[in-house]
Amino acid sequence: EIKAFIFDLDGVITDSAEYHFLAWKALSDELNIPFTREFNEELKGISRMDSLEKILVNGQMSGAYSEKEKVQLATRKNAHYCTLIEQITPQDILPGIKELLIDLKEHGYKIGVASVSKNAFTVLSALQLNDMFDHIVDAKKIVNSKPDPEIFLRAAEYLSVSPEDCIGIEDAAAGIESIKSAGMYAVGVGSKDILKNADIVVESTNELTLSMILEKYNRNI
Ligand code: G6P
Ligand code: MG
Repeated sequence: EIKAFIFDLDGVITDSAEYHFLAWKALSDELNIPFTREFNEELKGISRMDSLEKILVNGQMSGAYSEKEKVQLATRKNAHYCTLIEQITPQDILPGIKELLIDLKEHGYKIGVASVSKNAFTVLSALQLNDMFDHIVDAKKIVNSKPDPEIFLRAAEYLSVSPEDCIGIEDAAAGIESIKSAGMYAVGVGSKDILKNADIVVESTNELTLSMILEKYNRNI
């Protein structure tokens, strides 16, 4: 029986995935490394340092920088990202998300956030949503980035719910892998081609309602 809903942040609760894209694009341009939206899909849900490494490997530049320089490059990307997220206000909550959160609360479900972003608290504060969640996992305490199940398992643990009683909501392929290997039911937001392993995929957040999700879930079991 479903007892908790665990949300990814970037690209699910707000469109900060676009700001991650813009910040990585700016860094890639500075380094003369090609960076496309298609390649960016592979970075969604991936931690900052792992993302940088993927970008450098893709540009055949991984060997060109020392570990110390890589940390500086990641810091540069983050500074740019932090400037971009300063403009976030509660109006930037994606359509239907606030309504879904209120509905979940009214029906007594526990609600968590599982984002590997170290800026998650800042983004949620800017959206004025912190109070809606029973637990927001601290990315600093997570060792393995998505697709590893660690962050979703940790969220379930903090909510005192077993993984099979959780529904995870994600916009990234790596995030869907993380939810599925945690043993949870996976709801994808985005393209079916990218989120192949999700149990349900919707194109937009405004399709995410409690009744729709539970209806599909109950049909599957
Ligand atoms: C999320 C985003 C990724 C981002 C990661 C780390 O998973 O989907 O695009 O790289 O968080 O974010 P951070 O804010 O810590 O650099
Ligand atoms: Mg995401």
